[in-house]
Amino acid sequence: MDTPETTSVLFICLGNICRSPLAEGVFSHLLRQQGLDETIRVDSAGTGSWHVGEMADPRSREVAGRHGITLPSRARQVTPSDLRDFDWVVAMDRSNLQALEEIRDEDGGDARLVLLRDFDPEPGDGEVPDPYYGGPRGFDTVYEMVLRSSHGLLEAVQGDD
Ligand code: 4NP
Repeated sequence: MDTPETTSVLFICLGNICRSPLAEGVFSHLLRQQGLDETIRVDSAGTGSWHVGEMADPRSREVAGRHGITLPSRARQVTPSDLRDFDWVVAMDRSNLQALEEIRDEDGGDARLVLLRDFDPEPGDGEVPDPYYGGPRGFDTVYEMVLRSSHGLLEAVQGDD
């Protein structure tokens, strides 16, 4: 029998080509390892529309690939209905979070809006920095932040059932 979906998580960044597709891929990988991929739905989106329809940035796909993770997602822009349809909406930085709060103020929705690094045991300044204009090392740093945070996020999501 199919296991019913219990909760859903949407990762958000600016372009939906660098950070949030990587977070989606890493979190989905963790769910598969724990047999939770049928019960927790995962997606990602961007607050901006410039890259809609594009594959994840090659640098995100490269770092994911080195860790055995493929990134199949295509960029899309977040919509007001996402804040009603998802239980958790997880922003990479405060600018993303502010954009989401503005959508919620306008259109409602009761998703939990959080920063990914709220769940990082080494939270630093609390943000996953935008690696788009930096070198490939920035993508390794993003991967490490996302991986550390994903474990804590999963515990929080499961504790919320
Ligand atoms: P992301 O990175 O928000 O992690 O996907 C960016 C990708 C593209 C742009 C900015 C950030 N851009 O300005 O096109």
